[in-house]
Amino acid sequence: ELPIDELIATFSVDVPDFPEPGVLFRDLTPVFADAGAFRRVVDALTEPADVDPRAAALGGADGGPGFDVVAGIEARGFLLAAAVALDAGTGVLPVRKAGKLPREVVTADYALEYGSATLELHTDSIRPGQRVLLVDDVLATGGTLQAAIALVEQLGGVVTAVAVVVELLALGGRERIAPHPVHALWRV
Ligand code: PRP
Ligand code: MG
Repeated sequence: ELPIDELIATFSVDVPDFPEPGVLFRDLTPVFADAGAFRRVVDALTEPADVDPRAAALGGADGGPGFDVVAGIEARGFLLAAAVALDAGTGVLPVRKAGKLPREVVTADYALEYGSATLELHTDSIRPGQRVLLVDDVLATGGTLQAAIALVEQLGGVVTAVAVVVELLALGGRERIAPHPVHALWRV
């Protein structure tokens, strides 16, 4: 059985100059399209190696996963978060781009290469002290995950783990969201 990083490297496709010249896009869609690879990826995301030590102090079943709910970030994070939640036996929450959620939300802005964007989360979706696993496909600059963490924390939630399929090391995302531990399946 291939190690998980080699599996992802094997199934993903590198696309040079997408979405613009000079950018190497790591296309994960073939990883998720393969039943066996998708299963391995979801299982690996469900058992984050680096759960925040606060998880135990905040309660929950001994030997449990260290989180009470999984939050996925629109859009690509949605593919993973629901599967991870089902695997872990928790519910799933959508962290959405601005204007999509119908009820009261908290909002967090984050920087894009040109301009900025906004993520939102329903205000009543997290109870104070609830432990949250944040899931996305890629950690690049970390701006997206930083905004998602801010949303959870605005509601009194505790991000006990962050799990991604790929961490792009050159972009420094891990440093940006420190001290939150990041569980990355493929660091490249
Ligand atoms: C991509 C990717 C991550 C984010 C990582 O999402 O899916 O969510 O960028 O970049 P960062 O670490 O520099 O913030 P994108 O905003 O392209 O939208 P999508 O998921 O809807 O395709
Ligand atoms: Mg995304």
